[in-house]
Amino acid sequence: MKNFNIAALAGDGIGPEVMREAIKVLRATEKNFGFQLNITEAPVGWAGIDAAGKALPDTTLALCQQSDSILFGSVGLPDRDPTIPKEERPERAALLRLRKEFSLFANLRPVSLPKALAHACPLAKERQGDGIDILVVRELTGGMYFGQPKKTEELGNGQQRAIDTMVYTTSEIERIAHVAFKSAQLRRKKLTSIDKANVLENGILWRETVTRIGKQYPDVTLEHMFVDNGAMQLMLKPTQFDVMLCENMFGDILSDEAAALGGSLGMLPSASLGATTGGQTFGFYEPAGGTAPDIAGKNLANPIAQILSSALLLRHSFGLHDAAAAIEKAVTQAIHDGNRTGDIFNPLDPTAKKIGTSQMGDAVAAAV
Ligand code: IPM
Ligand code: MG
Repeated sequence: MKNFNIAALAGDGIGPEVMREAIKVLRATEKNFGFQLNITEAPVGWAGIDAAGKALPDTTLALCQQSDSILFGSVGLPDRDPTIPKEERPERAALLRLRKEFSLFANLRPVSLPKALAHACPLAKERQGDGIDILVVRELTGGMYFGQPKKTEELGNGQQRAIDTMVYTTSEIERIAHVAFKSAQLRRKKLTSIDKANVLENGILWRETVTRIGKQYPDVTLEHMFVDNGAMQLMLKPTQFDVMLCENMFGDILSDEAAALGGSLGMLPSASLGATTGGQTFGFYEPAGGTAPDIAGKNLANPIAQILSSALLLRHSFGLHDAAAAIEKAVTQAIHDGNRTGDIFNPLDPTAKKIGTSQMGDAVAAAV
């Protein structure tokens, strides 16, 4: 029987309760598809600071290094201890550190609006067309998040200067462009590359490089869009997009915007992929939504983003396509059957029943 090692890092806020449901669903899948998952849990984020004094404890990092992939919850609690140095806060010390440590340069964020959730989309029905189905491909280890210099310096006269540096090399753009074109080939064969080539040097290099790589993918239609226009077009005509390719910061912003179109941030999974070696891709899978401290521990959070992230894990890291598809179908089924957490509940829908986090996990696991 095939055997896979997964590090499960639930983190803070709603992390632990949505992780519990994802593991429940993975266990149901394992039973039906004949493979074995060795899932080991470890603390990260504030949970890591509480357990071992560090957002990414050494034992957690070691576990990740020994695993085939990481299923991640979310980290960061804005209201906890403002005195801790910014470099030690969970967002930087755990999340960004892991992205860099494992060279997870390709972040895939698929957004779709299920028919039954049309009401949860902030756009009028006419603008939803036949359905919204977008894949945001976000570069994740370059740009302003990591470029040097990155610092705040004293200017002496009571003034400070903050510096972040946006930097990309040709090869960094090339490798993410290949991921985006290959993704488009498996979908509707349209790629919209987002940049700010009218202002930024980075934008010019981005556009030139993506155009050149595009010649290797003649079956994919490539178009370029400035990021400000891209943000507007998402609201005006989201159905025009298939794959959107973005640098790190633009992808951060546009993926949240796109997620809102899918009904709820609680529905948006993501895969962050490194290089493929020997047929296996090391990957990091997390919901895009964050810790939601206001609803944490109340059985209110939508676990679907975490559950769908575990489906992406099975597909992208282990090539378990049928099992991944089974989870995705089970989510669709659970929604079709009227199961709704608060974020996607419509009181005017007579078939909808409002349920909690664990009941949603039960419904999906049963459908698997
Ligand atoms: C995301 C998040 C992170 C990011 C934060 C928590 C550092 O917003 O994954 O989109 O900006 O990348
Ligand atoms: Mg974000």
